[in-house]
Amino acid sequence: MIKVAIMGYGVVGSGVYEVIRKNEKSIAKKTGGKTITVKHILDLRDFPDHEQPQLFTKSFEDIVNDPEVAIVVEVMGGLTPAYEYSKAALLAGKNVVTSNKALVAEHGTELMQIAKEQNVNYLFEASVGGGIPIIRPLSQCLAANELEEIYGILNGTTNFILTKMITDGADFEEALAEAQRLGYAERNPEADVEGYDACRKIAILASLASGKYVNWSTIETEGITKITRRDVAFAEKFQAVIKLIGHAKITEDEKVYARVSPMLIPKGHQLADVNGVFNAILVKGDSIGDVMFYGQGAGKLPTASAVVADVIDAAKHIHTNKLITWKEVKENFMVDPDTVVARFFVKANAAEVMKDFPGAEPLGDEAGTWYFVTEAMPEGEFKKKLNGRGDFIRVLEG
Ligand code: HSE
Repeated sequence: MIKVAIMGYGVVGSGVYEVIRKNEKSIAKKTGGKTITVKHILDLRDFPDHEQPQLFTKSFEDIVNDPEVAIVVEVMGGLTPAYEYSKAALLAGKNVVTSNKALVAEHGTELMQIAKEQNVNYLFEASVGGGIPIIRPLSQCLAANELEEIYGILNGTTNFILTKMITDGADFEEALAEAQRLGYAERNPEADVEGYDACRKIAILASLASGKYVNWSTIETEGITKITRRDVAFAEKFQAVIKLIGHAKITEDEKVYARVSPMLIPKGHQLADVNGVFNAILVKGDSIGDVMFYGQGAGKLPTASAVVADVIDAAKHIHTNKLITWKEVKENFMVDPDTVVARFFVKANAAEVMKDFPGAEPLGDEAGTWYFVTEAMPEGEFKKKLNGRGDFIRVLEG
C-alpha cells in the first residue's frame, strides 16, 4: 500500500482524488500490486460534504511528519507556499508530483537536485500540456535523439480565442468574453493572453530538450492582445492562420533559442488545424524526424490523468531517482534573437514601407494598414528596415 497526500483541493486536486479512487484496481495492476490510497488532503477550505472528510487537514506538518506518506501531490499552484512545502517534502524523503509550471520553471533545478540527493523523484508531467504526455517523451522516449526544435500550442485559452477569431470573425474582446463565459479564461486573463503561461511551459520544454536550465524570465514573450480581426483576415489571404506558439530551438553548437509569440502557420501545417482549447506540441529530433503530441492541455480529469501517471511512476520508483533533470549553466548560451532568420508578416503604417523589402509578397491594405510578407531574413536586419513603421508577426516555416 502506497500512501499519498494531495496538497490543494481545487479543480486538479479533486480530479487526482477522483482518478485514484475510481481506478484503484487498475492502478494497482500497474504498480505491481501496490494499492495507492490518499491519506491526507491539504486545503485551507472546509469540505464537510466530502465522502472522506477525515482526510482533510489545514496543516502541512500532518503530511511532512507522517512517515507513511511516500508521495506528495502538489497541485496548489503559485510559488509560495508550494515551493517551501515541496522542498520540505523532498528533504523528508518523499516523492513529489506536481502540475505547477510556475514552480517547475522557477525552482525546478533545485527541487530536482534535492530529489536526486534524497533518492526520490520530483515529477511534473502535468505542468506542460495538461493531459498530453510530453515531459516523459522528451526525457525518456525520445532520449536517443538530439532534440532540435519544438513548436507548441501550449495554452488552450488563447488557442480558443484565436480559433473564435478565425472561424467566427470575432474581435479579440468578443472571443475573450466567450472564453470567460465558458469558463476557459479566468476573470483576470492576463497570464494566458499575455503569454506568461506559455512562457513557463516552453521554458520547461527548452530546459528538458537542451539539458540546460532556460530561465523563463529571459524568454521574449508576446501574447495575443494586439491581434485584430483584420490581421486574421489578411493572414487568411496568405493561406495561413495565427496561433500563439512557444518555440524553442537547440543549435548545433548547443545554444538555445526560445520565444513565445503569435505566429502565422501556413494552412496544411500540422499545427494549423489544432483548434479550440486543444494543445499540440511538435518536436523535431535528429533520428525521429517530426513527432506531434496532441490533446487536452487543461481541465480536471485530463490534468489529473498526467498527475496520477506520475504518482504511479513514483510508486514504482519510490527510492530510485529517475534522473529527469537539467543543469544550471552560468555562461550565456541563449541565441541572439536578432540572428534568427524568418519571414515576417508586416502590418505597415505607410504604403512605401514595402518598397524597402524587395521580393515581399503584398496582401493588400485596409484603413491605413498595408499588409505584406517579407522574404526570409535575419530578425535584426528586418527590424532595422522596418524602423518602427508598423508591427509584424513571424511566419512559421518549419
Ligand atoms: N490556463 C491554461 C490554459 C491552463 O489555458 O492552457 C493550463 O495550464
